[in-house]
Amino acid sequence: MGLGQETFDAVDAFVGETLAGHDEALQDALDAAAAAGLPQIQISPPQGKLLQMLVRMVGAKAVLELGTLGGYSAILLARALPEGGRLITLESNAEYAALARASIERAGLGDLVDLRVGPALETLPALADEGVGPFDLTFIDADKVNTPNYFAWALDHSRPGSLIVADNVVRDGSLADGASADPATQAQRRLHLALAAEPRVTATTIQTVGSKGYDGFTIAQVN
Ligand code: DHB
Ligand code: MG
Repeated sequence: MGLGQETFDAVDAFVGETLAGHDEALQDALDAAAAAGLPQIQISPPQGKLLQMLVRMVGAKAVLELGTLGGYSAILLARALPEGGRLITLESNAEYAALARASIERAGLGDLVDLRVGPALETLPALADEGVGPFDLTFIDADKVNTPNYFAWALDHSRPGSLIVADNVVRDGSLADGASADPATQAQRRLHLALAAEPRVTATTIQTVGSKGYDGFTIAQVN
């Protein structure tokens, strides 16, 4: 097997079949999203399994997701919650949110998931006003230019030991290019500079290849 997308797909498929797990509710969610024309950019099954393991490793009961899309990751996150756990997931696109809500309901997780519709920069202050949190794990997977803003908010609404995970930070390697003209890439560079100067967290970034190409995620733990 060579080093290329075909191989990345094959390995993700193999890991998906052997370890990551798949079932009807997840397939239904993917099918519904595809049928409605949503972008096929949800996390891969192996990435989803990692998120579930992270939820369990920190014993997360209060989980926040930014960027619901079709609800695939929300179903996985909600399933990893312990008794009494709750997932709040934010989606700016009302059409995506309605579809995700239906998929989450069909998966039998409606009671565990609180889906809020609207730009996160508006729904986050509302959450703060309600006094929700602190969150034990926050998964940032929304509009990429705002990742540093979402990270700052998550950090202010976490507790020692909380995890904050941000998807899509490596962006085909452009993370290393200070001259990149892509605002999404510049945002990930700012995230890293902010993390470097932030005494409240311990963080690293892991590059990944897989069915979603070459990318990577940042994982930070609150000290
Ligand atoms: C895009 C967004 C994602 O969250 C992702 O994992 C891959 C791609 C995008 O907006 O293109
Ligand atoms: Mg993503």
